[in-house]
Amino acid sequence: MHPSNKIFDQVLVGTWQLSGTHGAIHPKKVLENMHRYFENGFCFWDTADHYGPAEDFLGTFVEEVEERHGRKESEKIKILTKWVPTHPQKRGLPECEIDSAYITKNIDRSLKRLRRDQLYVLQLHWWDYEDQRLYDVMNELCKLKDQGKVLHLAVTNFDAKHFEKLLKDGYPIASNQVRYSLIDRRAEKDMLRVCQTYNVPLLAFGTLCGGLLSEKYLGQDDPERSLSFSEKGLYHKLINQFGGWSQFQDLLHVLDEISKELNCRLSSVASQFILGRKEVSSVIIGSRLQHDHDIDKTKEIPQIFLSKDQREKISNILDRGLHLGDWMGEVASEYRGKAFVEQTSPSLKE
Ligand SMILES: NC(=O)c1ccc[n+]([C@@H]2O[C@H](COP(=O)([O-])OP(=O)(O)OC[C@H]3O[C@@H](n4cnc5c(N)ncnc54)[C@H](OP(=O)(O)O)[C@@H]3O)[C@@H](O)[C@H]2O)c1
Repeated sequence: MHPSNKIFDQVLVGTWQLSGTHGAIHPKKVLENMHRYFENGFCFWDTADHYGPAEDFLGTFVEEVEERHGRKESEKIKILTKWVPTHPQKRGLPECEIDSAYITKNIDRSLKRLRRDQLYVLQLHWWDYEDQRLYDVMNELCKLKDQGKVLHLAVTNFDAKHFEKLLKDGYPIASNQVRYSLIDRRAEKDMLRVCQTYNVPLLAFGTLCGGLLSEKYLGQDDPERSLSFSEKGLYHKLINQFGGWSQFQDLLHVLDEISKELNCRLSSVASQFILGRKEVSSVIIGSRLQHDHDIDKTKEIPQIFLSKDQREKISNILDRGLHLGDWMGEVASEYRGKAFVEQTSPSLKE
């Protein structure tokens, strides 16, 4: 557990990979792998109401752990889910009234799918800050927290300004979950300052760049055309914005050198670099639960330690790349705003 944080573990298992956009899902295999993660000490899961059947799988998993090992063991499983209030036909906020009944119905659906009486963490996504219903929704979510339906309230993909406003207004926000990796350091622009000021942690996703930060791509030609958008294509776009494939190769070389010094995987060095920031309590590792191979790699991430020299070596390479924050704007701007919603609905997923 991160010394300054009692709510989250350092590594959360991410379930976007179950959304249906990462290849066929074999239910038996998925559940077997969930149990393997649990047996290996991973108890914290990140999911969302819109990740296909992910919440249902987690609900079944919780039930199976209870049947096999008893209630006390199953209660060790902590699930962070998200509520993304979405218009039925497009991305963006629903046009109907988002009142108490509407919110409760959505939260109850997640509770039912997860087979729980209380959501451990509920992370709210908000598409458009001009839509002032945000504050009514936050007030209603606080009521659900008071009633015990939600233990911790959190947000996801909030920019620094609106995250800070919620904190300043006194909303009990446990964390903000954003994309933050070696190639996408927009969080460093202002978000880390907010986290420090209010002592609220960041949960970082995308630290593996969808799997591109790996030995597999070291010394390889640019694979752009062979990448599907939802698995790696989006991250490849970020690599182009960071400085392109050759700049990325320079980064992979440095990570490879350090991974050899530490006798670990290159991907673990990349994730640990972000996890080592004091404002980051956790990294969320997107797991292909339809395969077997990632648990050992994932276990390694919190166990390695990067020296000051090793961190500097990585920072020097990053400083040669473009800083996405300088021109791409605020954290998660790709997930918000009317223009984004209109441009991308309904084809762009996550
Ligand atoms: N809040 C949001 O808007 C939001 C958006 C996106 C994701 N998320 C959350 O964050 C999680 C992770 O983000 P992400 O899926 O975008 O990217 P990610 O964690 O950067 O990449 C996941 C990919 O890395 C590879 N991998 C998995 N474990 C590994 C390990 N230990 N070492 C090396 N490679 C490993 C796998 O690809 P290969 O099998 O190809 O190697 C996997 O599909 C998601 O599952 C989801 O829970 C949240």
